[in-house]
Amino acid sequence: MAVATSFPQKTEVVHLNPWQQWLFFQQPRSMHDWFRERYGNLAELHFQGRDYAAILTPEAARQVFSAEPNGYDAFWKESFTNMIGVDNVWVLIGDRHRKERQLFAPAVHANHFRAYGDTIRDIAREYIAKWQPGQEIKALDTTLLISLDVIMRLVFGVQEAAYMEEGRHVFEELRLKAHPLVVFFPALQKPWFPMWRSYMKAHANIIDWMKRFMETRRARVADDSDVLGVLMDARDEAGIPVSDEHIRNELNAILTAGHETTAVALSWALYELARHPQIMQKLRAELEAAGPEIEPGSILSFPYLDAVCKEAIRLHPILAECARVPMQPMQILGHNIKAGQALVVSIVGIHHDPHTYPEPDTFRPERFLERNYDIFEFLPFGGGHRRCMGAGLAQYTMRIALAEIVKRWDFESLGNDSDVRLNIAMGPKHGVRLRIKERSNR
Ligand code: HEM
Repeated sequence: MAVATSFPQKTEVVHLNPWQQWLFFQQPRSMHDWFRERYGNLAELHFQGRDYAAILTPEAARQVFSAEPNGYDAFWKESFTNMIGVDNVWVLIGDRHRKERQLFAPAVHANHFRAYGDTIRDIAREYIAKWQPGQEIKALDTTLLISLDVIMRLVFGVQEAAYMEEGRHVFEELRLKAHPLVVFFPALQKPWFPMWRSYMKAHANIIDWMKRFMETRRARVADDSDVLGVLMDARDEAGIPVSDEHIRNELNAILTAGHETTAVALSWALYELARHPQIMQKLRAELEAAGPEIEPGSILSFPYLDAVCKEAIRLHPILAECARVPMQPMQILGHNIKAGQALVVSIVGIHHDPHTYPEPDTFRPERFLERNYDIFEFLPFGGGHRRCMGAGLAQYTMRIALAEIVKRWDFESLGNDSDVRLNIAMGPKHGVRLRIKERSNR
């Protein structure tokens, strides 16, 4: 249940000056807290010639996510179309968007991945086995490798070592080239802008990799156990297959959505555990009570592991916000919203609202054992008709990998980190610096 709020209900439109725009973008938490204290459920904003409404409470989020999906356009469509192409879930709307999701939803459904827990565990083990006692690492470097391998193996169905190796390079290159200037300023997505040229070069390498990999994949027996297999076998009502270009765009969209996000979530969990030894001990005790080997299929049945993972992404939401663009005027909690006025649901603001989460800056997994938070109070994966399609895989990967790391290694924090905008997603500014240590109490 959402906690009733007694906020002021000012209705003026806030014109953000350049400094506030920068803060809104780079440190959304501080701005969203300020909006909530001053404006309550919703703050109407105007900047760079466009109207926005920041959605700041669970009640307001409920209204946004419960409205008719066909009434919404996709947010930041021009930019994402330039970056990824026309045919993909990020930019499709209405019935085409719904059908596209339905097409491969079974292949990314949480239940589907239960059968592949061993693969995820083996990938995590392979990377953490490379750590050495005393070594100083950036946890994010390793979690990025784990997350990418999981997606390449389970979503793309890559089995060949050569494609895995090449994929690690080309996908990491694309991630690094997706600078915020490239993502958030469509006016700069032009051949004269060097960063855009670099992005497009990395994109071309991915397309080349995908073309070759899809040919190899076609030579295999038909296999619908991953997204690529589903898309390659799909036929529309007239029996026409999905075009190769469409498949490539979709895979690219899924990879962009799933690679860095999962890696960042796992690295924040490690950050918080390193800074809270008692929580680490409690988690380890829960995991070790299950015996020397944890069966990956049982990983969702560990309540404290679940609470630790949820609290990590409550405190450090990877996407600070998600957005909808109404195509007709609508009302949200009595506010008149214009057609085209972007509704920016503040995940970061709602996750730090002290009405819902007392002492919101404290890492306290127990809060998830003491209370059930509803889907508008805890919304790391967004909500409604565009809710994250990879939430099941992300949560599964995060829990399996975290359990492996906690059972295998001790680690200590090498300093503060902070949430910054990496590209579309937020992440740890310093990549979570840790010193790896041999387990002391075994
Ligand atoms: C911890 C990791 C992740 C987080 C925090 C996360 C979060 C999100 C959020 C907030 C959205 C926007 C939802 C909305 O607008 O309501 C989203 C969309 C999406 N995510 Fe994730 N995500 C994660 C991992 C993944 C993974 C692993 C995949 C796929 C393998 C994935 C695939 C997608 C797709 C395809 C969409 C677009 C859905 C649509 O527009 O219909 N995500 N994600």
